[in-house]
Amino acid sequence: MAKAHFTLQGKGGVGKSLVSALIAQHRQGNGISLVCIDTDPVNATFTGYSAFPVERVELLKDNTIDEREFDRLIEIITENRNSEIVIDNGSSSFIPLSSYLIENEAIEMLHEMGHEIFIHPVITGGQSLMDTLSGFDSLARQFPESAKIIVWLNQYFGNIEKEDKTFEKMKVYQDHKDRVAGIINIPRNSGATFGEDMQQMLESRMTFEQAIKSDQFKLMSKHRLKMMKKILFDQMNPVLGVTASTTNKSDSGNEPPPRRIRKRSKAASE
Ligand SMILES: Nc1ncnc2c1ncn2[C@@H]1O[C@H](COP(=O)(O)OP(=O)(O)OP(=O)(O)O)[C@@H](O)[C@H]1O
Ligand SMILES: [Mg+2]
Repeated sequence: MAKAHFTLQGKGGVGKSLVSALIAQHRQGNGISLVCIDTDPVNATFTGYSAFPVERVELLKDNTIDEREFDRLIEIITENRNSEIVIDNGSSSFIPLSSYLIENEAIEMLHEMGHEIFIHPVITGGQSLMDTLSGFDSLARQFPESAKIIVWLNQYFGNIEKEDKTFEKMKVYQDHKDRVAGIINIPRNSGATFGEDMQQMLESRMTFEQAIKSDQFKLMSKHRLKMMKKILFDQMNPVLGVTASTTNKSDSGNEPPPRRIRKRSKAASE
C-alpha cells in the first residue's frame, strides 16, 4: 500500500525534522523508493539532506496561504503510488496544513484511493512538554480514524514525565490509546556524549550511514551513533514495516537511487 508520512507538531524546535529524516533513512534503508517534501517556509532543514532528494512545496508565500500548493502536495502523493512520501512540516505551516487536510477531508480521500496515511506528532520533555502534549491531543481529536498516529517521544530536552507519570500513564495517552499505532522513544542516554553526537550529525544534515562513514566523527562517536541507530531502527521496524531486502541486507549502506518528483509546471503556477 502507498504510504505517506506527515510529521506534524505546532511547536517549533522539538525534533520534527529529525523525525522526518529518521523516517526517510529507515524507509530508504529498506530499499523503498522515496519522495521527500519540505513544506517548512522558515527552516528548510529537511531540504539540507543530501542522502535523499527533498523537494520544497511552498504552502505559505509571504505569509499568505497558497491553496494550489496544498492541492499539489496531495497530487504528489497520489501520483507516486510506488513510493513512500515523507513530508516535513514547519511550525508556521502547521495550522494551515492541518486545517487544509481536515477541511478538505484529504486524509479520507487518500485512504479511499488506497493510501495509508501516517501522522507523526513529536512530544518533548522540558519546556515544551505541555504544548507538545496538547498538540498531540488536538491531532488525535481532529484527524480522522483512517490516519494512523505514531507518537515520537523525544527525550533530548528532558524526560517526558508529568506528576511522575510516563507518557503511557498520562490521561492524554489513555484518551487516545486506540488511535496510536506505535510509540517510538528517542532516548537521552547519558545526555552529553550521545546528545552531542546526534546534534552534530543533525547539524551536518547527515544520515546515520553518512556520519558513520564520515571523517567528521571519531571512533567512539561513530560507535555511539551506531548504537543509537540500532535503538531507533529496532523500534521503527515493527511500526513502519520492513521489507525482505533489509532482512538479507548487510549494513553496507547501499541505497537505491533517489527518485525525484515532478516539478510544478509553469502553466499550473499561473
Ligand atoms: N534527540 C536529539 N538529539 C540531539 N539533538 C536534538 C534532538 N532533538 C532535537 N535536537 C536538536 O534540536 C534542534 C531542533 O531539532 P529539529 O530541527 O529537528 O526540530 P524542528 O521541530 O524541526 O524545528 P523547526 O520548528 O525549526 O522546524 C536541532 O538543532 C537538533 O540538533
Ligand atoms: Mg524542522
